[in-house]
Amino acid sequence: MQGSERPPGGADGAQADHAWPVNSPVPPWRTALSAALQRGSKAPEARYMQLATVDALGCPRNRSVVFRGFGPTSELLVLTDARSRKMAELQAQSTAEICWYLAATREQFRLQVRCALHGAGAQGVWASLRTELWQARGARGQAEWLGAVPASALAEAVDDFVLLVCEVQQAEHLQLRTDPHTEVVWQRAGAGWNTAVLRGG
Ligand SMILES: Cc1cc2nc3c(=O)[nH]c(=O)nc-3n(C[C@H](O)[C@H](O)[C@H](O)COP(=O)(O)O)c2cc1C
Repeated sequence: MQGSERPPGGADGAQADHAWPVNSPVPPWRTALSAALQRGSKAPEARYMQLATVDALGCPRNRSVVFRGFGPTSELLVLTDARSRKMAELQAQSTAEICWYLAATREQFRLQVRCALHGAGAQGVWASLRTELWQARGARGQAEWLGAVPASALAEAVDDFVLLVCEVQQAEHLQLRTDPHTEVVWQRAGAGWNTAVLRGG
């Protein structure tokens, strides 16, 4: 996980800090999201976002997940279980949407993402990051994947432990605390981002 932004912590309150090199410029949506997370860092919703996928019948499926921080090129990181339904959904359709309302500052971020799943066969930086996040969970956090608390924390992640990496393609930022409300959209354009102000500004 990058930079000085500490991950908001897991459902179990566990925190991990990482110092992955920044190998791309920080995208504008991330600057806005990080600022909002800093302002509302004590609120529970700074930890939890909603991730929507599409199932085999084309129906939307939405669920809460814990934000685990940013990846090396500003991906949003999530941990999940290979046995969960979202795995099959994301394998069939890797495009998903994250929606995140930060009540403290009345801001909504809606992020269209392309998801990659890094489980037992993870390679390179994703394998390292997966192992680091597994170890950071400790014995109690690891129990979610094991079904029971191990006598001591395991160093090697179990096969069902999956790092879900969400690469943002488009980001919308709606602010309700301003009058009029403001809405900005950033769209990936090659190596950069196009910005459009939809409301306010
Ligand atoms: C506050 C909260 C945080 C959660 N965090 C995660 C998470 O980080 N990863 C995860 O896979 N499921 C998490 N869940 C459970 C999911 O919401 C969901 O129930 C589960 O992943 C199964 O979803 P699926 O059947 O669509 O795969 C969380 C649930 C709640 C209520």
